[in-house]
Amino acid sequence: MITVDGLFKKYGKTLALNNASLHVEEGTIHGLIGPNGSGKSTTIKILSTLVRPNQGDVSIGGIPLKKGRAIRQQIGVVPETPRLHEYLTAHEEIMSYARLSGLDKARAVDRVSVVVKQLDLAMVQNQKISRLSTGMKKRVALALAMVADPPVLLLDEPMSGLDPVVRRQFKDTILGLEGKTVLVSDHDLYTVEELCTSVTILQQGRTLIEDNIDSLREKVGKVSVEIKPQDPAQISNLAAELQQMSRVTSAEVEKDRVVASVNDPEKDIPEVIRMAAIFTEIVEARPSKISLEEIFIKLSSGGDRT
Ligand SMILES: Nc1ncnc2c1ncn2[C@@H]1O[C@H](COP(=O)(O)OP(=O)(O)O)[C@@H](O)[C@H]1O
Ligand SMILES: [Mg+2]
Repeated sequence: MITVDGLFKKYGKTLALNNASLHVEEGTIHGLIGPNGSGKSTTIKILSTLVRPNQGDVSIGGIPLKKGRAIRQQIGVVPETPRLHEYLTAHEEIMSYARLSGLDKARAVDRVSVVVKQLDLAMVQNQKISRLSTGMKKRVALALAMVADPPVLLLDEPMSGLDPVVRRQFKDTILGLEGKTVLVSDHDLYTVEELCTSVTILQQGRTLIEDNIDSLREKVGKVSVEIKPQDPAQISNLAAELQQMSRVTSAEVEKDRVVASVNDPEKDIPEVIRMAAIFTEIVEARPSKISLEEIFIKLSSGGDRT
């Protein structure tokens, strides 16, 4: 649905994008990840037709970037710092945006009520934007992106500045957007990990990794199980004992528990827990997912960047 190949962008002497690529399948949520300055916003601005690239093949829904108007009909954008009209009510803001997007009166009324409901804005729709919380303002910004019902949403760090509870709600909202193709950027891998099925990791304007999350995890080949022994004095002995097992690639002490990494979660985890239980009394054992952050650190420090 979104295709970006060989993308270059220079701002004066700054090379913001240096051969970036990005491919997003229709109907999926895709993460665009990278540290500050890696080129996420520039990529999103190019896709939004706000910034012109120096070079690159870009298309959305098969439409090439140079057909600006057609591209803009495909997309809804939440920019890095959304500019809202603080003196309007949320409802007025969304309605005026709907009209500006070219919806006729009846359709605008209809769409505004749909997005207000979908984004849980009903309670605050008659309040002035200036009085809304950061989380609610983000929802209004998302409502603007969605009101014309475009198939593609480009969200530039929509979760930044939100506290964990609001962030959770916002994630659930994004996860609930059925049938949309969503590109969501963030500098923090943890933030999008549970949201996206696939990710592109940018580093200094270049695509470092493009993959789906499960296959990334598989490639790194690490799943771990956390085991907490009843007797804290047994922790290091337990770690040493598990380290002896051929199934265990590493066993490390972390606070009150041992974290043992294995390759095959289905076969290895029950064995490791069984072994631990024979060795000592255990109070808790659970598999833990490897985070994208760990994968990223592992891959980018591994030297193999092909
Ligand atoms: N309008 C601009 N003029 C000059 N340099 C810019 C401009 N916008 C971005 N840059 C530079 O381009 C690089 C990529 O920026 P950006 O796309 O905003 O990254 P990110 O969104 O990942 O933080 C950075 O080095 C940034 O300083
Ligand atoms: Mg940015």
